[in-house]
Amino acid sequence: MARTASLHFFCTACGNEEPRWFGRCASCGEWNTAAEAPAAAPAAARSKGATARARTGRARWAPPAAAGAPAVPRPLAEVETHAAQRVSSGLAEFDRVLGGGIMPGSLVLVGGDPGIGKSTLLLQLAAAVARSGGARPRRGRVLYVSGEESEEQVRLRAERLGAVPDQLFILAETDLERVLEAAAALEPEVVIADSIQTLAREDLEGGPGTVTQVRECGLALLHYAKGSGVAVFLVGHVTKEGSVAGPRVLEHMVDAVLYLEGERYQHYRVLRGAKNRFGSTHEIGVYEMLDHGLREVANPSEAFLSGSDPAHPGRGRRPEPGVAVVASLEGSRPLLVEVQALVATSFYGMPQRVTSGYDPRRLAVLLAVLERRAGLKLGRHDVFVTVTGGLKLDEPGTDLGIALAIASSALGRPVLEGTLALGEVSLSGELRRVSRVEARVREAVQLGFQRAGVPAIQADDARVPGMKGFEIVPLVTLREGLARLLGAKIAPAAGAAPAGRSEPGMGAAARPGREPAPSEESS
Ligand code: TYD
Ligand code: MG
Repeated sequence: MARTASLHFFCTACGNEEPRWFGRCASCGEWNTAAEAPAAAPAAARSKGATARARTGRARWAPPAAAGAPAVPRPLAEVETHAAQRVSSGLAEFDRVLGGGIMPGSLVLVGGDPGIGKSTLLLQLAAAVARSGGARPRRGRVLYVSGEESEEQVRLRAERLGAVPDQLFILAETDLERVLEAAAALEPEVVIADSIQTLAREDLEGGPGTVTQVRECGLALLHYAKGSGVAVFLVGHVTKEGSVAGPRVLEHMVDAVLYLEGERYQHYRVLRGAKNRFGSTHEIGVYEMLDHGLREVANPSEAFLSGSDPAHPGRGRRPEPGVAVVASLEGSRPLLVEVQALVATSFYGMPQRVTSGYDPRRLAVLLAVLERRAGLKLGRHDVFVTVTGGLKLDEPGTDLGIALAIASSALGRPVLEGTLALGEVSLSGELRRVSRVEARVREAVQLGFQRAGVPAIQADDARVPGMKGFEIVPLVTLREGLARLLGAKIAPAAGAAPAGRSEPGMGAAARPGREPAPSEESS
């Protein structure tokens, strides 16, 4: 009986546990990922609560009950909360993504591709907390555990990031038991484990980074956080293949999951909440990677617009075909983002559709709607769509702007200067409402834009106070959007002018079957 209870299987992709072997994981749907979990280890039995875990095999945290005492339910209204104890990290953007500061006793996973800047961000966090300690009982003492870099390397990096505070402690260690001992002795306010994949328990089989090690170390740190009230941050590398133990097994266990995203060779980084037991998951923080670390970008819209006047990016923008501005709602904050599209004659049988920061399947839908509902035939053209600054757009309210950028490039007609395009495009070619239209329009007004194309049903909602001279263009369909928001065709370079096309742009849309010539097509 005891033998069967201690033997079970888990999915190496997601960490889901099953009492018996399985071919396909019931949780994540991956095939052939079952692996035998080791019998409960003796060290696990030493820590509190581990016996319950060994019995159920569940990676869940429950408060260690007094031995033998019966479980007694309490009125929920009488349970004390500690929300007021949130501690500011000293980094405003980070606090916002966390839901208003660091929660004592919380376990937070910060994931991201290797080299994206996780260590840099957390070292900055560590330094900021250590610096702002002040009146708190543990005075902002921070333990930074590095399993990847030596103490000297971390010190050199910390120097690059600014003055090194006294209350910041470093431990270059990969043995989890030793880390926990050191933490217990130091009594810090925050512990950072960089990274969870380098930590291991010696009594378990498998090296650091295996699912078993990642899970058991995560669990041990969870018990440490809950038991001591210390906030613990885990760094986790994301691997593309689920076969290597990524931090995905940890996601169920931790209180919050934040992802640091961005294109490695562009300097903007976005910190995004993917799970948060203490706040909204929609908040993002925008950072810029400089040579002295990550800088918080206070007004991110400016970062994602390449305007000629930094104070008023909506003004003085060079009208160029293929460029449109969308407003993506990221948490409580609307973000104006420039999208660029390039439509070019395809030289292969299979035209390419390449996107960066945008879902290629959504692009396919938009292209189909552009063809069927707006008469823009792009079946023999390559279409490239790029979102500036390495941001990822996944919000339907950006549809109109992306369709506009594509049509603009295809027709050689720039979008009218200072225009924001809002609207979800339905399969019928009609524009659907977007959430919080007034917040998005207000952002555009503030940044010096001149007009916003909005779904007609929302035209009244979109009129915000103080928008003198700002025009709301109510639009019923995508076709209407293209007709009213695209300017005149720009004359192509000398010698490349297509002959005999007096009627620019969407005239073609009114004549079915005739393909409007994209500007690049000059044959
Ligand atoms: P790092 O934080 O080590 O990434 P991760 O921990 O996610 O693997 O840093 C990644 C990159 O950031 C590295 O290639 C160098 C660059 N970087 C800067 O550009 N400026 C800086 O001040 C620092 C510390 C790093
Ligand atoms: Mg690192």
